[in-house]
Amino acid sequence: MCAYAIGSNLAYIYLRGEFSEPGKELEKALADAYANGLLGTNLMGTGYSLDIRVHYGAGAYICGEESALLESLEGRIGQPRLKPPFPATNGLYNKPTVINNVETLANVPWIVLNGAAWYRQFGTEKSSGVKLFSVSGHVKNPGNYELPLGKYSIQDLLDMAGGSSTGRPIRAVLPAGSSSPIIPAVNFGAKLDYESMAGIGSVLGSCSFIFMDDSVDMVWAARKMIRFFKHESCGKCTPCREGTYWALKLYNKLLSGEGTLADIDMIGEVNKQIIGKCFCPLGEFATSSMTFTLKHFKQDYIDFIEKKKGGTPEYKAELARDTHGHHAQAAH
Ligand SMILES: Cc1cc2nc3c(=O)[nH]c(=O)nc-3n(C[C@H](O)[C@H](O)[C@H](O)COP(=O)(O)O)c2cc1C
Ligand code: SF4
Repeated sequence: MCAYAIGSNLAYIYLRGEFSEPGKELEKALADAYANGLLGTNLMGTGYSLDIRVHYGAGAYICGEESALLESLEGRIGQPRLKPPFPATNGLYNKPTVINNVETLANVPWIVLNGAAWYRQFGTEKSSGVKLFSVSGHVKNPGNYELPLGKYSIQDLLDMAGGSSTGRPIRAVLPAGSSSPIIPAVNFGAKLDYESMAGIGSVLGSCSFIFMDDSVDMVWAARKMIRFFKHESCGKCTPCREGTYWALKLYNKLLSGEGTLADIDMIGEVNKQIIGKCFCPLGEFATSSMTFTLKHFKQDYIDFIEKKKGGTPEYKAELARDTHGHHAQAAH
C-alpha cells in the first residue's frame, strides 16, 4: 500500500543480518505473495507492478538510521548522510523514498479497512493506536506484547510479563534498549504513551523494555552499554568516535578497581563533549547510559569506588574477555 501510494515499483525490507530465522519466514511470505499474484507485474490486472526484496545488513546498529540504511542498501559503508536533502526527496538511488519500520506499515491495512476513527479508539488523544512492547531481562515471560497506548503502566507491563524471574525486586527498566534514559522503579506508575514517558524524563522509542533486578550494578550496566556504543559508532564524527572511546576507558578504570571519585566528574565532562555535537543521534544515544545511570543511581558509582567493588576476579575476567575480543576483532 505504501509503495502504491507513492507510485514506487520497488520496495526493500532491510533486515539485520543476524536475523536469519525471521528472514526465512519473510522470504517464504514474499514467495507466497508472488505465487498468488500479489507481487510482480500487473497486479490483479491493475497495470501496477511491485517487487519487494529482503536485504540483509551486516550487523551494524547504525544501519537502522535511515540514511545509513540507504548507504548500506546502495552497497557503501553504513554511515549517515548529511540532511537535508531528506530521503523523501533524495533517497534510495537519489529517488524519493519512504522509510518506515515494518510495525508502522503493519498498522496501515487496518486503518485503511476500518478508518482512522476506528484506529483512534485505541490509545490517547496524542498517542493513538497500538504498539508492540518487546519485553526482556529479569522477567518470567519475555516476549512481544501488543497493547493500546496510554492504557497500561510500566508496572502493568512488568506484571503481564510475569514479574521478576529471579524473585528479587525489579530495580529499573530501559524502555528502548540501551539508547534510552533508564527509569527507576519508583516511576513504574507512568503510563505507556509518548507524553507520560517524556513526563518521567524518558522515552517510549522502540518499546524494547529491558527490566533489571536489584542485583544489577548500574556502573557495570552503563559500562556494558558504553562498550556497545563504542563498538557501534560508525566513526564518521569525532565527538561520538572519540567520546565513546574515552568513556569506555573511564568505565574500564572503574571496573578494574582503580576508579576515583574524580572519574565520576570526568564521565560528566566526556558526556558534555558528545551531547549536541554529533552528526547523528547515535552519539546522543551513547550518552544516555552515562547521564541517566548517574542521575538516578549515583550512589552505585560512589559505592563502586569507595567499597572497591571493581577489581573483583569476576570483573577482571570480564575486562580480559573484552580486551581479547577487541584484539581478535582488530586482527580480523
Ligand atoms: C542509530 C539509530 C538506529 C536506528 N535503528 C532503527 C531500527 O533498528 N529500526 C527502525 O525501525 N528504526 C531505527 N531507527 C529510526 C529510523 O532512522 C527511522 O526514523 C525509522 O525507521 C522511521 O520509521 P517509523 O517512523 O515507522 O518508526 C534508528 C535511528 C537511529 C538514529
Ligand atoms: S554520531 Fe556516531 S554513529 Fe553517528 S555519524 Fe557520528 S560517529 Fe557515526
